[in-house]
Amino acid sequence: MIVKCLFPVAGYGTRFLPATKAQPKEMLPILTKPLIQYGVEEAAEAGLTQACFVTGRNKRAIADHFDVVYELEDQIKGTSREDRLACIRGLIDECSYSYTRQTQMRGLGDAILTGKILIGDEPFGVILADDLCVGDEGIMSQMLKVYEKYKCCVVAVEEVPIEEVSKYGVISGKQLDERHTIVETMVEKPTPDEAPSNLAIIGRYILTPAIFDTIARTPPGVNGEVQITDALQILAKEQMVMAYRFKGKRFDCGSIDGFVEATNYFYTQMKQAEEGA
Ligand code: UTP
Repeated sequence: MIVKCLFPVAGYGTRFLPATKAQPKEMLPILTKPLIQYGVEEAAEAGLTQACFVTGRNKRAIADHFDVVYELEDQIKGTSREDRLACIRGLIDECSYSYTRQTQMRGLGDAILTGKILIGDEPFGVILADDLCVGDEGIMSQMLKVYEKYKCCVVAVEEVPIEEVSKYGVISGKQLDERHTIVETMVEKPTPDEAPSNLAIIGRYILTPAIFDTIARTPPGVNGEVQITDALQILAKEQMVMAYRFKGKRFDCGSIDGFVEATNYFYTQMKQAEEGA
């Protein structure tokens, strides 16, 4: 059974400067909820109720968000505003939260290895909160079913326009059906010419503990960073790694375009719900 989910949140978020100068990118809100809350909700929906964060400097607001603020709660108790805290209050009670720090930004692979102290020797989910996903069924719940069937590492993928592949890790391999491909090749940030396909890895993974040893022997790659894609490429030669084309929609909230798109989407949903009510 998988109960832990790792949230690497140590990145600088330079694309959102100056907004991210003194606050984490993951605390930027889509309407009234910060990105990281959507991520923790998705994990909790899948039963991954032990949230493990790999944080860095300037990230204390995340730990504060998942904690009770007694003065505020006391102030708004009994007023119409009390409801506004209900969803985060429920999440605080439902999940446990633990934190460790990545001291140098050496890449996502390094951030995941830093999380080993919180994860231990068990399979776990990984959610990059800046990829905000929506679907009738949560993406992590869908991936858990894939893990339960194949008992191997699972990466979520989606088709992207070929001219955008250089933003992603890109996979190819043996396609089993419309949604499942056994990974043979993985390339981090390829040019359109180098890309083995247009199937891009998005910020959702289920990893087995074998990944820690594999990351430790993965040399730095693109941008001098230890890339999780490179580690998974090594692992894919030794054991099965499954790519899963998820059902739903992803917003790249690490980019301004994706962030605005997500805001518009959630705003429209909110208005439709209000009109229907
Ligand atoms: P990004 O590539 O989006 O980098 O990282 P970033 O620093 O967050 O944002 P920009 O590009 O400067 O605007 C993808 C994810 O991996 C985490 C980030 O927090 C983000 O969730 N990450 C990346 C780490 O935790 N540590 C790292 O060393 C690198």
